[in-house]
Amino acid sequence: MELVFATNNLHKIKEISPLINGSFRLLILNDIKCFEEIPETSETIAGNASQKSQYIWKKFSINCFADDTGLEIEALNGEPGVYSARYAGEKCSFQDNIDKVLAKMQNITNRKARFRTVISLIIDGNELQFEGIVNGSILAEKKGVDGFGYDPIFQPEGYDITFAEMTLEEKNKISHRGLATQKLIDFLNKL
Ligand code: IMP
Repeated sequence: MELVFATNNLHKIKEISPLINGSFRLLILNDIKCFEEIPETSETIAGNASQKSQYIWKKFSINCFADDTGLEIEALNGEPGVYSARYAGEKCSFQDNIDKVLAKMQNITNRKARFRTVISLIIDGNELQFEGIVNGSILAEKKGVDGFGYDPIFQPEGYDITFAEMTLEEKNKISHRGLATQKLIDFLNKL
């Protein structure tokens, strides 16, 4: 089966590609000549994932999935959450977002946070969702250079290294996206 992953984010593609292992043939937006920005205007992570996959289904009538992820920090009432990509403003960098989180967390002792990914899959017009969550904490400064986004300041529970210090395989085994993708693959393998 062919499935379009509704993203051109190379970090995400690099992470999920080794997990697929022949379960389906992965296409990305470039492969179907979809070059426009897909709207992400929902107030929720699940809503955004759905909005992206529905956009592709309605426009291209092709089986597809989309993911949306948020970093949810307990002491910040779940911020940046659905605004994780543009926390420090439109067109901000990963560094800008990290700086904003670290500034807001400066005098806060409760460092608990989690990453949450929702994948929305559409097959023949029917939508299903898969969720992956990883609990952890926000460090006071960056550690590590791998990964992307907030990885250098997120330390998963039970580890003394950040996502940015892990290999792709290590991160995939426990990460929000890895867990959600595994649920997607388990589902597809049963079809
Ligand atoms: P998206 O809307 O799913 O692209 O994710 C929103 C934002 O969350 C991204 O721009 C990144 O800053 C952050 N993010 C998503 N996934 C990860 C991850 O695996 N590690 C660190 N940050 C992530």
